[in-house]
Amino acid sequence: MNKNIVLIGFMGSGKSMISRELGKRLRTDVIATDALAEAKEGMSIHEIFKSKGEVYFRDLETGIIKDISLKQGIIIDCGGGVILRKENLQHLKTNGIVFYLQATPEVIYQRIKHETHRPLLKVPDPLGCIKELYNQRLPLYNQADHVIDANDVSIEGPVVEILNKI
Ligand code: S3P
Repeated sequence: MNKNIVLIGFMGSGKSMISRELGKRLRTDVIATDALAEAKEGMSIHEIFKSKGEVYFRDLETGIIKDISLKQGIIIDCGGGVILRKENLQHLKTNGIVFYLQATPEVIYQRIKHETHRPLLKVPDPLGCIKELYNQRLPLYNQADHVIDANDVSIEGPVVEILNKI
């Protein structure tokens, strides 16, 4: 496998769990853009947003994507907002197959409602916010090479579907 497997999708769509499972089955490295951003800055995503702002985070994310897109045969677990900059997807596609893990806003809300680490969803009406962001982002996520249904609680379906497509 020379091409990278790139997972994109909304927060809570299962990118991290699915990429870890793919990494195990394919015996390949998994790189998470959020984890790299945290390591580079020495603080959590939440702290980066709070102290330096979203634009700073997006610049950092774009730099990370540019670098890791040069690699081969790895699995890339992308932060949910990578599609916001056109150049990110262009970089990711040069050497990778991009999979969009699709889950509905309601499913996403159920999965993440008790989590507190996502700065964009620390709002009074998280479900409303998810719906709004989801609708704005949908055409961008759909620019992936493949759309994978990730609504089920089990990750087995998406994992097998991705493995069948590579
Ligand atoms: C974001 C998603 C997060 C993280 C940041 C912004 C987004 O990643 O990069 O909080 O804009 O959708 P996950 O999708 O891994 O939660």
